[in-house]
Amino acid sequence: MYVSDVALDDFRSYRHALLHFEPGVTVLTGPNGQGKTNLVEAIAFVSTLSSHRVGTDSALVRAPRPGENVPAGAVVRLKVNKEGRERILELEIINGKANRAKINRTKVRPRELSAELKTVVFAPEDLSLVRAEPAVRRRFLDDYLGQSDIRLAQLKTEHEKVLKQRGALLKQLKKSGAGLSPANSSAAAATLQVWNEQLANLAAKLIIARKEFVTQLEPEAALAHQKIAPEGRDLSLRYQAKIDELIPAQTEADHELEGLTARLLQGMAQRAQEEMIRGVNLVGAHRDDLELYLDHLPVKGYASHGETWSVALSLRLGAYGVLGGNSEDIAQRPVLILDDVFAELDEKRRAALAQMILPAQQVLITAAVPQDLPECLNAHQIRVRRDEAAGSLILDATTSEGEAHE
Ligand SMILES: Nc1ncnc2c1ncn2[C@@H]1O[C@H](COP(=O)(O)OP(=O)(O)O)[C@@H](O)[C@H]1O
Ligand SMILES: [Mg+2]
Repeated sequence: MYVSDVALDDFRSYRHALLHFEPGVTVLTGPNGQGKTNLVEAIAFVSTLSSHRVGTDSALVRAPRPGENVPAGAVVRLKVNKEGRERILELEIINGKANRAKINRTKVRPRELSAELKTVVFAPEDLSLVRAEPAVRRRFLDDYLGQSDIRLAQLKTEHEKVLKQRGALLKQLKKSGAGLSPANSSAAAATLQVWNEQLANLAAKLIIARKEFVTQLEPEAALAHQKIAPEGRDLSLRYQAKIDELIPAQTEADHELEGLTARLLQGMAQRAQEEMIRGVNLVGAHRDDLELYLDHLPVKGYASHGETWSVALSLRLGAYGVLGGNSEDIAQRPVLILDDVFAELDEKRRAALAQMILPAQQVLITAAVPQDLPECLNAHQIRVRRDEAAGSLILDATTSEGEAHE
């Protein structure tokens, strides 16, 4: 699949923008702050409904100049080509409201967009996949779950909602001191019970889906790592479910939906009082981690800067494989987006990465200067230049001389 056309309204720094892309490799170059990342972020956002740079959607809507009205929202329209069949995907990001989506002008639920466009984004922020707290790795897994199956996107949303509601209730119980006296806490436990069952069921489904994804991801990521890492150490992954430590599984069935749900409920019962005292959810999928190892040593805290990069890239390349990157059918392969990554890599990793991305039907790369790119990439070039004076519009360029303006 590939994106042939992009139209933006009030997205980030763009008032209006129109851009045409060819399949193959396209490089967006230009000095920093011109809007290169903003462009590729818009494309990725349509397919994942999440940005690699911010957690909230409001930063995606163009901030008005002094004296201007605040735009109602941002609109991203993409024309996506899959085996010659064209679809127009539209996403409207509205300040303070739920996003709205259309496919070929028909209203759909936003998460349906990812069935039409899959993307894998590489960015300097990926170092945090290795270094940062577990939440970053959970989000990495969940983003791809959502892209791989619309039912999982739905599961994710429901799980988040129930987790939030139960968390709000716990906060209330904390305030009222419910955990402090036995009489109060048994009444409170009854109130919690409804939420427990819902949360345990959703969390169990999510844990199972994540584990399955990690099982598929591991061989792909390990293979990518062999190709990309000159150090030649073996990468392995482990999904660490906290519930497995709290209430260890006794049989295989304890890992399946029913058994896992039961263990989560048991865990919640065990920690109910502590939850009420602290006012937070302590048992469930939202506590888990994806552990990364090189030759069985944890990557976190042990790996060098270069090794950390190799692992982060391998995770992305692995996800690309799981999402369809190895498919015989080129139209099934996700669009790859490499935002400013080549400048971060040494010569060897650059060359290895360049080789590995070539099978994609479309690769979009941003770079401050073309010199940062490996020579083997035979790319279309688009220069991105901010044009304050032009006010609205423009752009185009499938040739090396095209330019993008604000
Ligand atoms: N919501 C927004 N409204 C207006 N401008 C924005 C918004 N978000 C980011 N920008 C501007 O976009 C520019 C950064 O664009 P970016 O695509 O990151 O540049 P680069 O070409 O370096 O990748 C900055 O000048 C930033 O102030
Ligand atoms: Mg950038």
